[in-house]
Amino acid sequence: MGSLEGKVAIVTGAASGIGRAGAALFAREGARVVIVDRDADGLNATEAAIVEGGGTTRMYVGDVGHEADVKAYVQVAIERFGALDIVHANAGILGPPAPLLEQTVAQWQDMLQTNLIGPFLAIKHAGAHMVTRGRGSIVLTASTAGLRANAGSAPYSASKAGVISLAQTAANSFLGTGVRVNAICPGLIETGMTRDLFAAARERGTAGKIGQLNPLQRAGTPEEIAAMALFLAGEESSYVNGQAFAVDGGLSSTLPFRLPIR
Ligand code: NAI
Repeated sequence: MGSLEGKVAIVTGAASGIGRAGAALFAREGARVVIVDRDADGLNATEAAIVEGGGTTRMYVGDVGHEADVKAYVQVAIERFGALDIVHANAGILGPPAPLLEQTVAQWQDMLQTNLIGPFLAIKHAGAHMVTRGRGSIVLTASTAGLRANAGSAPYSASKAGVISLAQTAANSFLGTGVRVNAICPGLIETGMTRDLFAAARERGTAGKIGQLNPLQRAGTPEEIAAMALFLAGEESSYVNGQAFAVDGGLSSTLPFRLPIR
């Protein structure tokens, strides 16, 4: 029996990368999973993979930053599967790499709408249902960019620092309700978001240098983030609340350094 047998989960950003791996893992562990993304083609592929693996899923195409869509995807879970136990609010954008002094208010608003207001809306609408049941686990995808500079643009980093704070503040807002909120801070993971970076390095013949700044000296996989999402989603983490966990090969544990001459 899987560790999420009988549970109902929502995974956003499930058309690609970390969300796709997480949705597939949740389904393999027995959860019925509502997969959410604005990329319908990608969602179709995720759905096909879950069904092929014997899992149960339902897709919702929409924008995680729009409240009507969030209300609707929560409703799909409750109406279709009868309850809601887990939300992995994972969808995010990286945005353009413009220098800080050239960035526009519109760019910041776009970033915050998806990366920070999206998770807030998931907490608001899923949390309302979870509070009435006296249990639930909400997992947010933040980033090492929310812990330190230089892992993304200023608005991306600020949005992810906001997500880490949201995990803390939401966990405390759910005081005494049995609803938990935690965040994951992935390091460099090969997904749709980082595809160009990996492709460019392979083209230059420098793929071996990717991830060299962390002590494991490699990039991570979506499955390695999904494993942490599974732990935080399920009962094994029943006393874990209001935390942000780096899953980054040790990147956020280090200071900048120069390799010793060997
Ligand atoms: P990805 O680009 O492969 O997947 C992100 C998914 O989110 C896409 O399918 C996209 O269509 C969807 N999405 C984006 N904005 C949306 C919106 N407004 N409404 C609905 N769907 C939307 O990227 P990845 O890497 O799987 O990203 C997942 C999360 O992990 C993001 O929050 C990202 O910021 C975070 N992350 C990724 C890292 C990496 O190195 N790939 C490192 C740290 C954090």
